[in-house]
Amino acid sequence: MTHHRAPENRELLRFLTCGSVDDGKSTLIGRLLYDSQLIFEDTLAAITKDSRKHGTTGDDIDLALLVDGLEAERQQGITIDVAYRFFQTPKRAFIVADTPGHEQYTRNMATGASGASLAVILIDARKGVLTQTRRHSYICSLLGIRDIVVAVNKIDLVNFSEDTFDRIVGDYVTFASELGFRSVMPIPMSARYGDNVTSKSGNTPWYHGPTLVEHLEGVDVSQDLGAKPFRFPVQWVNRPNLDFRGFAGTIASGRIAAGDQVIVAASGKASRIARIVTADGDLPVAEAGQAVTLTLEDEVDVARGDIIVRPAERPAVADQFAGHLLWMDEEAMLPGRSYLMRIGNVWTPCSVTSIRHRVDVNTLEEHAARRLSLNEIGFCNFSAGQPIPIDPYAENRTTGAFILVDRFTNRTAGAGMVAFPLRRASNIHHEHFTVDKAARAALVGNKPMVLWFTGLSGSGKSTIANIVELALHRAGRQTYSLDGDNVRHGLCRDLGFTAEDRVENIRRVGEVAKLFVDAGMIVLCSFISPFRAERQMVRGLLAEGEFVEVFVDTPIEACIQRDPKGLYAKAQAGQIKNFTGIDSPYEAPEDPELLVRTPGRTPEDCAAEVLAQLRARGIGC
Ligand code: ADX
Repeated sequence: MTHHRAPENRELLRFLTCGSVDDGKSTLIGRLLYDSQLIFEDTLAAITKDSRKHGTTGDDIDLALLVDGLEAERQQGITIDVAYRFFQTPKRAFIVADTPGHEQYTRNMATGASGASLAVILIDARKGVLTQTRRHSYICSLLGIRDIVVAVNKIDLVNFSEDTFDRIVGDYVTFASELGFRSVMPIPMSARYGDNVTSKSGNTPWYHGPTLVEHLEGVDVSQDLGAKPFRFPVQWVNRPNLDFRGFAGTIASGRIAAGDQVIVAASGKASRIARIVTADGDLPVAEAGQAVTLTLEDEVDVARGDIIVRPAERPAVADQFAGHLLWMDEEAMLPGRSYLMRIGNVWTPCSVTSIRHRVDVNTLEEHAARRLSLNEIGFCNFSAGQPIPIDPYAENRTTGAFILVDRFTNRTAGAGMVAFPLRRASNIHHEHFTVDKAARAALVGNKPMVLWFTGLSGSGKSTIANIVELALHRAGRQTYSLDGDNVRHGLCRDLGFTAEDRVENIRRVGEVAKLFVDAGMIVLCSFISPFRAERQMVRGLLAEGEFVEVFVDTPIEACIQRDPKGLYAKAQAGQIKNFTGIDSPYEAPEDPELLVRTPGRTPEDCAAEVLAQLRARGIGC
C-alpha cells in the first residue's frame, strides 16, 4: 500500500464496527452508505420493494438490506466473513470493516481490526454494556486500536432517555479505563431513523456532541508513523544488472533521507542510503507508507526479510520473545508444536514454549492454560527458528505483528502481537567442540541415525526394536533405545496422555535422540507418537537421511486382541482416558521410510525387514 490518501486527496479513515446483528450494526452501516448517497437510484428502488417483502421495518426502507451478506445472516443467524465497504463525504473517505458479531468469530474481528484505526462499538440502549461489548473492546485494544466510538443505538426505544445514555456511558468508561484507549466518544443514536448518525437529532436536545459522521470526519487518528523509528522491511532485492542493487519494500515507520546512516538490523552491517528510487524518479526523503527502492553506498549483505533501520534506533533481535496470541484454528494450539511463523517478510519455524496465561476475553481475568482453543487468547513465550528483529506491537503494528501457519493445512492458525524479547535467549551462544559427531561416529565405525518406530500401543514397536537392536549390537554397532514406557518413568514422568503432554513427550525425546545421534549412535525410538506434526518436528531436528520412520502398522482390532498390558480392556471399560485408538487419535504416517505390516507374521520376520532396510542404507548388520 502506498499513501493513506483517498482520491482527491481526502484523508482515508479505516474503521470497524463491532456489535451483533441485534445491536443494529447492519442497519448502521446501511445508514452510513445511504446517507452518504452512494446508493444508485435503481438499487434503492429494489431495496424499497424488498423491504416491503422481507423487511422488518414496515413501510420504511430496511437499510439492513443494503448490506451484503445479510441474506446469509438471516438464513443462518450469522455472517462469517469480514466485508469491507467504502463511502465518502466531502471531508473524508472511509473504509468500514463489517465484522460479524456472533460469539464465535473473534477471528473475523481480528481480521477486521488489523489495519483499522478506530472502532465503533455498538450497544443496544435497552441492554447496556454486555459481555460481548467487553470482549470487542478488549480485542480492539489488543490489536492496537486507540480510538473508540461508543454508539448507544436504538435510543428511540428507550424514549431518548438521557439517564439511560449516561448510565451506559458511565459503565463503559469505568470498564474501558484499563484498556488504554486514547479517545472514547459516546454518541446516542438511532441507526434506523438516522438520529445523530449524519444529522443532529431533535429528539436528543440534551446531547451536545457531534453526530457520528461529524466525529468520524474530524477525529484525529494519526499514528504519526513518520515520527517513529525508521523501519524498512525488505520485500525483495532488485538486481536487474550488475550496476544496480536495490532493496524494495514499504517504509513501515519513520522517514529516511539520502545520505542517512543505516544498518541491517539482524547482522548489524552498516552503510548509508545512496538513493531513494521510485517509479517517478529519485526522492530526497521518504516516509512511512511509501513504497520505495533503497540503494546503499556499500556492498552489504541484505536479503528479503531483513529490516533496514538507523544505528541509534535498533530493534531487539531475538529468537525468543513474549507476546499475545489469538488462536483462530479449529485445531488447538499445543505448546511445543512447530508452526510456521511469518513476521514481516520472514518465514521461520516457531513454537510456543509456554503459555504464561490465557485471557478470559469476557472478564479479562487471567487463567493458567495448557493449550489455546479456537478464539482463545493467550500470553505466551515463543521460540523462533532464527533471530529476528522485533518491536513491541504497541510501538509498531507492522514489525510487531506476526501470524502462525499450520504446517500441514497451511491455514493461518494464529495472530500474534509481540510484547518483549526474552533476555535469556540473547546471551546464549553455540559452543563448538573440536570432537564432533563425525569424529565420534568414525571412532566406533558407526553411521549415526534415528530409527523411529511409530504405531498404536501394542502394535509391536518395542518388540521389533528389541530384536533389531540385538542384531545391530551383535554386528558391533553402537546403539541406544528410547522407549515410551521407559522414559515416562524418568525424563517424562511429569507427563500424561493429553494431546499437549504427548507433544511435549515427543519434543523431549526428539531432543534426546538428537544428542545421541550427535554422540555417534544408532538410536531406536519406540513411541506411539500419534501426531504427524511432532514426528515431522523430530525429522527436522536431524540431518537429511538421519531419520528413518518405521510405521509398525497393526490394525487396532489386532492390538485389542493382543492387548499385552491389558490396557485396551481398561480403556474400553472407561478406566483409562485419552487412550490412543479408543478416545485419542492416531495419525498414520503418509510417507514413512518403511511400513511394516505385522498381522500373521513373527516379530523376527518384521525385524528382518527393518535390518534389510538398514543394510540398504549402508549399515553393516
Ligand atoms: S506417546 O503418545 O506420548 O507417544 P508413549 O509411546 O510415550 O505415548 O507411551 C505409550 C505407552 O504408555 C503405551 O504403550 C502404554 O503402555 C502406556 N499408556 C498408558 N496410558 C496410555 C494412553 N492413555 N494412551 C496410550 N498409551 C498409554
